[in-house]
Amino acid sequence: MMEQNRPNGTLRHLLTLEGMPKTQIEALLTRARKFVRPIGEAPVHTHSLAGITVANLFTEPSTRTRVSFELAAKRLGADVVNLEVQLSSRVKGESMLDTIYTLEACHVDVFVIRDAETGVHELVASHVKPHASVLSAGEAHVAHPTQGLLDALTILQAKDRFDGLKVAIVGDVRHSRVARSAWHALTTLGVAEIRIVAPRALMPPAGEFAGCERFNSLDTGITGVDVIMMLRIQKERMETAAIPDADRYFQKFGLSAERLAKAKPDAIVMHPQPMNRGIEIASDVADGPQSVIKDQVRNGVAVRMAVLEAVIEGRGP
Ligand code: NCD
Repeated sequence: MMEQNRPNGTLRHLLTLEGMPKTQIEALLTRARKFVRPIGEAPVHTHSLAGITVANLFTEPSTRTRVSFELAAKRLGADVVNLEVQLSSRVKGESMLDTIYTLEACHVDVFVIRDAETGVHELVASHVKPHASVLSAGEAHVAHPTQGLLDALTILQAKDRFDGLKVAIVGDVRHSRVARSAWHALTTLGVAEIRIVAPRALMPPAGEFAGCERFNSLDTGITGVDVIMMLRIQKERMETAAIPDADRYFQKFGLSAERLAKAKPDAIVMHPQPMNRGIEIASDVADGPQSVIKDQVRNGVAVRMAVLEAVIEGRGP
């Protein structure tokens, strides 16, 4: 794995939460908390990224993550450009690195990248100029570090602690970068019990998610938990034949109000979105009093502001 920190110990790239020290994760969460405002209040605006240019390069569809990175950069005073790479240069055969060099010539400082393949982020990070940073906005099924941070922040706000919590990660864990980044963050932050709850076909390979107990039944898996983290079925990462039937899936693995009652009475329900309502989660649960799904979205902007500010501040004067 590539070194994400500068020799002076500050964060330069954010590609994964795997191996990130607890103190560094905690510092990012603390920084993010300064940027959180209740929904309905005016958002924070600063000039800490004035003169900095951020490029969002997304080769996979995204609404929330892209908008959230864009708002985060703008609210810190940066210039932002958005490129949908598959629509422009990639189809013309221009390589990702050529696109990066073009953008570097336009004084881009931070590259925010989402890609369906593994390794692209690291390749770019190892080729950019020393002052530039690469932030992952999603890498295949492997990593989605800002999502892991925003999920941790959402849990901390709701529960005020990590130790002693029981967290169930439910659904298509096999194909989920959200699950992997959450697992890295929560394990490091001291969550005592993380359960993987999935049908056999969507279980991650043996050897991954070490230390997590695995459940093939949703009812058993969520009994007594504090946090239920639902995942989207990643159809785009499955062969057509493997895509589960929607009605059957909901019957066995959909989170309904009746099922939610098996968790602790004050359990929170999370989902990274986009949601398949009626397939992995019932609408009344997604919109219900235990849902923190909107908090996750709000925290997403705050976390991305924190990460952007940290990587730029760490460059020094
Ligand atoms: C997630 C993603 O793209 O990994 N969405 C997001 O970033 N909010 C989850 C998903 O697509 O299921």
